[in-house]
Amino acid sequence: MMRVLDLSAPAPLFTGRPIAPASARLAPSPPGDPLIGHQRMARDPLTSFLKLREAHGDVVRLQFGTLTAHLVSDPSLVQAVLQDRARIYGKQTRGMKQLRLALGEGLLTSEGDFWLRQRRIAQPAFHRKRIDALTPAMIEAGERARATFVPGRVFDLHEAMMRLTLDVVATTLLGSGIAEREARVVGAAVDFITAESNRRLRNPFQLPLSVPTPQNRTFLRHRANLDAIVFRMIEQRRRSGVMGDDLLSLLLHATDPETGEHMSDAQLRDEVMTIFLAGHETTANALSWAFVQLSRHPAVAQRLKQELDTVLAGRSPTLEDLPALVYTRQVLDEVMRLYPPAWTIARSPTEDDELGGYFIPRGSLVFVSPWVVQRHPALFPNPEGFDPERFAPGTKLAHRFAYFPFGGGPRLCIGRTFALVEATLLLATLAQHHRFDLVPGFPVVPESAVTLRPAGGLSMIAIPYD
Ligand code: HEM
Repeated sequence: MMRVLDLSAPAPLFTGRPIAPASARLAPSPPGDPLIGHQRMARDPLTSFLKLREAHGDVVRLQFGTLTAHLVSDPSLVQAVLQDRARIYGKQTRGMKQLRLALGEGLLTSEGDFWLRQRRIAQPAFHRKRIDALTPAMIEAGERARATFVPGRVFDLHEAMMRLTLDVVATTLLGSGIAEREARVVGAAVDFITAESNRRLRNPFQLPLSVPTPQNRTFLRHRANLDAIVFRMIEQRRRSGVMGDDLLSLLLHATDPETGEHMSDAQLRDEVMTIFLAGHETTANALSWAFVQLSRHPAVAQRLKQELDTVLAGRSPTLEDLPALVYTRQVLDEVMRLYPPAWTIARSPTEDDELGGYFIPRGSLVFVSPWVVQRHPALFPNPEGFDPERFAPGTKLAHRFAYFPFGGGPRLCIGRTFALVEATLLLATLAQHHRFDLVPGFPVVPESAVTLRPAGGLSMIAIPYD
């Protein structure tokens, strides 16, 4: 039976004390295989998660072999996990373990005092003023991408968006261009590492990377290719001796307050790799899904075009145009509601806890999924409908955590403002002169890789407006 969310009810009470299992209520759970539990659901988690919430309510218990997990979809409980009780909801999860194989201990994957120190060092690079100064480079990258569109020719729009956002993150945050050949190497590495991380997640019985299986050897080769590019960027910047105010400069010049030492090369590598990877695929996905939705909803596309014509009248956007690109931003907000690039966020409590009256054991997994919560009918009427009006100025969300494409609490995405400014300006740059049509019959299938991407890319055709 589906539990109806009562949004007027006060947030669930948390005592802050571990609950003894004997007195604890277990959350509802669908029938599972006696041996592997609900492991099969991991094959198609996007569909399974939506069905689970619909059938069993806002806290659902799952069993993956010996591992207990809960899917939590009440926004006040999402807030508890990500914000109010973030102290006990840590990142020692299977997914993070996989990510660490590629990213090491960077901002996304590290925890505790070490994470806090690194976050404080990186934060100034993401201040609004600093981002504003990067907008000309973002727009130039958009114009370079636009120049590659050949009218009427089929191309992979998702690949083009990945190339574009990689270009942006490399030139703006890391102060280094990225050659075509390097971009191809990154693309191949991201594809393989993502697919491999997923495979490992869905089948937890995996040999460590040190065992030279063909799969492991390929993983290590791709990782070494990424390392070579990241170290090239670091070396180039070191040799130039220029102290810019981009992120790479901040990282290079930061010193430990206690020892006065600079970051080690290994640490620098992990931070740069994190920004490099976390900073481009997510935004590329948001733009890709935006063009899918615009191709499916001509009335929205037309309204967007009207705004772009009125505000820009054929010229490229600038930073000053951002406040007037209201509908452009609404389109992006609504796209990220239905297709949140970070489709689920996982945590593991370091203490026993209780969520919504149900027992959450220490060491288990807790999923809070923007994909599920942002399609919750109690929070968004007609949840499957694409309607940018939901985000019109003056409208209010049913709950702060009804919409959280960038996460929340202390681990809120550090690149949120950067990504929103970038995506708005790029959408304006690209949608102003072209319409993008999906090739008829091309199947658009969301894939829950590490991020939510269109499986097999997007075959589209660029049609210039006259
Ligand atoms: C549409 C684009 C983006 C989306 C949807 C997105 C989403 C997210 C989410 C949900 C988290 C929280 C993960 C968690 O709590 O476990 C996160 C963290 C993070 N994101 Fe983003 N992100 C985007 C763009 C970016 C960009 C452009 C950058 C960098 C330039 C970036 C860098 C990071 C980093 C470093 C973290 C870890 C922050 C920390 O824990 O201190 N992201 N992102």
